[in-house]
Amino acid sequence: LQSSPSPSLIGSIDQGTSSSRFLLVTSTGKILSTAQVEFQQHFPSSSRYNSGSSCEGWHEHDPFDIWDSVCLCISHTVTELTKCGVEDVSSWIKAVGITNQRETTVSWNDRTGKVYYNAIVWDDTRTAAVAEGIIRENTDSSSSSNHKPQDVLRAKTGLPIASYFAGTKVRWLIDNIQELRVDLESPMECNNVRFGTIDVWLVYMLTGFKRSIAEDEMGIRLACEGGVFKTDVSNASRWLFMDLDTLDWDVDLVKKVVGSGCEFPVSKALPKIVPSSDCTIGTIRGVGEKMDLKDVPIAAILGDQQAALFGQACYQPGEAKCTYGTGLFLMMNTGTQKIPSTNGLLTTVAYQLGQRTVANDETDKQPVYSLEGSVAFSGSTIQWLRDRVELISDASETEALATSVPSSQGMYLVPAFSGLFAPHWQSNARGCMVGLTASHSKAHIVRAALEASAYQAREVFDSMVADSKVELKEMRVDGGATANKFLMQFQSDILNVPVVRPEHLETTGMGAAFAAGLAVGVWKDFDEIEKMWAVNTKWNPRMNDGERQKLWKGWNKAVQRSMQWLE
Ligand code: G3P
Repeated sequence: LQSSPSPSLIGSIDQGTSSSRFLLVTSTGKILSTAQVEFQQHFPSSSRYNSGSSCEGWHEHDPFDIWDSVCLCISHTVTELTKCGVEDVSSWIKAVGITNQRETTVSWNDRTGKVYYNAIVWDDTRTAAVAEGIIRENTDSSSSSNHKPQDVLRAKTGLPIASYFAGTKVRWLIDNIQELRVDLESPMECNNVRFGTIDVWLVYMLTGFKRSIAEDEMGIRLACEGGVFKTDVSNASRWLFMDLDTLDWDVDLVKKVVGSGCEFPVSKALPKIVPSSDCTIGTIRGVGEKMDLKDVPIAAILGDQQAALFGQACYQPGEAKCTYGTGLFLMMNTGTQKIPSTNGLLTTVAYQLGQRTVANDETDKQPVYSLEGSVAFSGSTIQWLRDRVELISDASETEALATSVPSSQGMYLVPAFSGLFAPHWQSNARGCMVGLTASHSKAHIVRAALEASAYQAREVFDSMVADSKVELKEMRVDGGATANKFLMQFQSDILNVPVVRPEHLETTGMGAAFAAGLAVGVWKDFDEIEKMWAVNTKWNPRMNDGERQKLWKGWNKAVQRSMQWLE
């Protein structure tokens, strides 16, 4: 690189549920340097916002922990390059792309810098009752419509009404955080209130000005001021507020979700929606605390699952990927066609290309849609076995344990710990283990926990085929659990299609890098990016049909049990 007169690097901030990462990617698609920083998870046990009663299912992040973790990973990679003799790292980085945990919602005041409340994480279930309330408020009992009540906003948003989506979190914040509500009701202050998902928070902090006072008199940290207030279409499609056709906030949808009790200055409080890959998003000022980059353009924003789709080079309709992270997310590119789901999936925006530094064809700027099935517990089931049940001390032990027994011996573990997401959308479901006998051991439980991810992926896979009428011929996979060879083989067996793992396992971060590099001309088109994607391992199905059907039947019975639990 040093020998090149003007080396081109792309930076990628991958802000996930349990950690943040920063990658520096070369123009040949190689990762030059990477760093990862975990940050604290908050699971409050009681809260004054809940009259001190149990906060089961609450999950929060401190937005400043997220910001610090991002700054720290950038600092690690910059320091590494500096040690190699690079004097001005920022000048080597042509652009930065941002990808993020989606739906997690934060609110702050642009004038004072005060953050009203911790970020409410996507899998937090406190808004299950809020979602039910929204469904009730919007259900016309006299209507003879044949859609499910939770689907009343689906035609416009592509989403069912569920605690998962950002809009329900906005409503909870308005209903519960008095200071926020007072500000929204004040004619002087209401235009300063900001709501954002984590991409919005990061873009704002990266592009903002340092406040003259860094902390207020109470010692509470304050956001910077005057940052760019933008999100991209892929993140915006996860609020219940955006119309999938206009790709803009819809005032009527906002009213339906937030309720009639509070006037909501939509154009001020919600970020401007921009394309996912665009060279005009903003510039990192480098004036925030601990920020090591300066004057670098932000040229992409993508929700993390959409970024993984982009990083897996799924640019053609019918191409799909499955990411095994905290949750599990299967997504299929459906092209410029918006396919409504009747099988419990989400219709969502995959990406949209925007302004590029080199001229591009206007037809490239059409939004590309996708079908998605989101499952709340995948890697987090293994974390639960490690941290709460203390059955294992490290996730890496699971493969050997699972293969130490020939099967889970008729036992199933349904990790419906926060209800079931796709394709069931049952917030009342609860986790269960069924089929237990005295001969089951720790190894069987661990095996059943891994198998649960594969079964949940199959549920979504079947819905995807039913909705799209496209026969999926293979599944591209990524995420931490793809290192588990037992899981990958079982996944292929249960899906009955090959499972393909690419060379780059940092698919999410690579996706944001590709989208940013495309906007600033480091790569000229999808063909060039596709050439950088290569297969590393392929698992072919080995299970016979009879065995597959028997196991699948058992899983479906187990899921029924979990859904009946709180009935
Ligand atoms: O929709 C939630 C998703 O974006 C979170 O992804 O990888 O942080 O678990 P991850």
